[in-house]
Amino acid sequence: MIAARSVFENFETVEKMLPDDNEPFTGIQIFGSDVSYMVKASVYLQKHGKFIDINAGCPVKKVIKKGAGGALVRDLSKLLEMVKEIKRNIEIPLTVKTRIGWDRDEAERIYYSLASAGADLVVFHARTVKQGFTGRADWKVLGGIRKKPVPLYISGDIFTPEDAKAALEISGADGVVVARGAIGNPWIFDQIRNYISTDNYKEPSVKDRLNLFLNHIEENVEFFGEPNGIIEMRKFIAGYTKSLPFARRFRERFMKVQTLEEVRQIFRDFMKNLT
Ligand SMILES: Cc1cc2nc3c(=O)[nH]c(=O)nc-3n(C[C@H](O)[C@H](O)[C@H](O)COP(=O)(O)O)c2cc1C
Repeated sequence: MIAARSVFENFETVEKMLPDDNEPFTGIQIFGSDVSYMVKASVYLQKHGKFIDINAGCPVKKVIKKGAGGALVRDLSKLLEMVKEIKRNIEIPLTVKTRIGWDRDEAERIYYSLASAGADLVVFHARTVKQGFTGRADWKVLGGIRKKPVPLYISGDIFTPEDAKAALEISGADGVVVARGAIGNPWIFDQIRNYISTDNYKEPSVKDRLNLFLNHIEENVEFFGEPNGIIEMRKFIAGYTKSLPFARRFRERFMKVQTLEEVRQIFRDFMKNLT
């Protein structure tokens, strides 16, 4: 996710966030409230991503105050103008990630308006903006939308392949978006695909999980340096080590280290304990 203004005001940071050329599916999400900035940013960013996505769902107060993210649900005419103008100016697909309403369910109206304005796909986080992350995502609310001029995806509280299947059945959506459920479990996307097509899926081995975690830490250090890239990874440790034996000791040690060499040592010790 990139703030539209930062494309012009903070380009050094933006450049580091752009997907590599070899990422076949990565889209770039932009957020902002100024239509002309959003258009200019999209025109520039289309060279770097496979699709542009408008953030029309973020409930964070600072973002709402500026009229961006979820505030666009309250100001639907501006969001629609944004969609029309961006669509007119770019050549790659344009998608919108939004909420089911500001403080009540208006998903149907929002969906059809966005599709008419030119959105190629709409993702609903099945909560209102006002709800933030409280309560449960309501997978039922999209159930009434039958005729679908563009694909409709659902997001919210999908943590397992079983959740994904239930969310698809209940909402009638064409696809799911997974956020928190992918933290520490990036295999969830393959697991969901397998579960939908074969009714079966595999758990990754302990070795695969640890290897991927280490790889993630190394890439984070490449990006943010030592020790920031390591400290930042603390928030993912619970996800990656969930239900592993001896995980408590591993986590305690991880919280104290500052260099990649120390990190690698903890991983080696942990692996030794497992074998
Ligand atoms: C740490 C975190 C960061 C997020 N960042 C974004 C974002 O940049 N853009 C966006 O559209 N949604 C963002 N979301 C919202 C998710 O895409 C998703 O709609 C929401 O978390 C509900 O799905 P979940 O239950 O699978 O987490 C974020 C959520 C979390 C927890």
